[in-house]
Amino acid sequence: MKLLPITVLISAALVAGCKQSGPPPLKPAAYGTQITEVSGGKQLAQVGSTLPQPLVLQVNGADGNPVTGALVSLHGDGLQFNPVQKLTDSSGQVTVEAQLGFNPGDYQVIAETPKSGGGSATLNLREIALGYEQAVGKAVNDQYCIRCHDPESTPERVSNLDNLSPAPHQFTDGGTLNRMSDADLTNMIAHGGPALGKSPQMPAYAATLKPAEIKAVLSYIRTVADPPYQTPGVKYGK
Ligand code: HEC
Repeated sequence: MKLLPITVLISAALVAGCKQSGPPPLKPAAYGTQITEVSGGKQLAQVGSTLPQPLVLQVNGADGNPVTGALVSLHGDGLQFNPVQKLTDSSGQVTVEAQLGFNPGDYQVIAETPKSGGGSATLNLREIALGYEQAVGKAVNDQYCIRCHDPESTPERVSNLDNLSPAPHQFTDGGTLNRMSDADLTNMIAHGGPALGKSPQMPAYAATLKPAEIKAVLSYIRTVADPPYQTPGVKYGK
């Protein structure tokens, strides 16, 4: 193998360094006072994937009207955006694609627009990444649970939720489900509502689902909870 002269290596490194600095930052042509979500928050997608829907954000002025030419910048731990900066279009909006990182769980999108007097207006959106176990749990949910636990009907499936009394909760209902322990939820999924003194309309799945599938659907329930589920007993030092 022939060694490259050191000058070639150095200039190659310099070119690579320049490429990483990216395009120059955009300059705003106008300023707003507020940034709002049009759509794209609270999506579920596989770890590492691009969210199925783009993020659509709008900048408004003090009069509440959309502002054209305002700068929107995006950041968030573990997230990648395309593009990371954009000026709002004639309807005051930007459309941006977001890609999730490789850890399952919550991701926070932070969108920012500078204000004319200094400082900036910000907006936080939550997105959820499903790892392997949560994806298995979602498949279990889609096959067995969703017809009773989701109020929405689709062309393929009619929701049964409104026919049930007491009505089951949506798995996103963290306000209710976060208060129930893993042990109680597992027990109820395996042995049905009566195992916890609840409605027999909640079926028992111990004969249908493997323990790993019950664990997976529980993991899915914990991951989609809104507000987010906090693992009990986890204490942070000061
Ligand atoms: C035939 C309808 C039906 C199906 C299918 C069903 N459930 Fe339920 N589920 C219920 C009802 C009704 C309740 C409420 C029981 C009560 O509060 O007395 C319930 C309650 C629950 C609860 C307690 C929290 C709540 O919503 O009140 C969990 C957890 C749960 N179900 C998980 C599951 C899982 C996981 C599946 C799929 C593997 C599933 N359910 C499938 C009807 C159903």
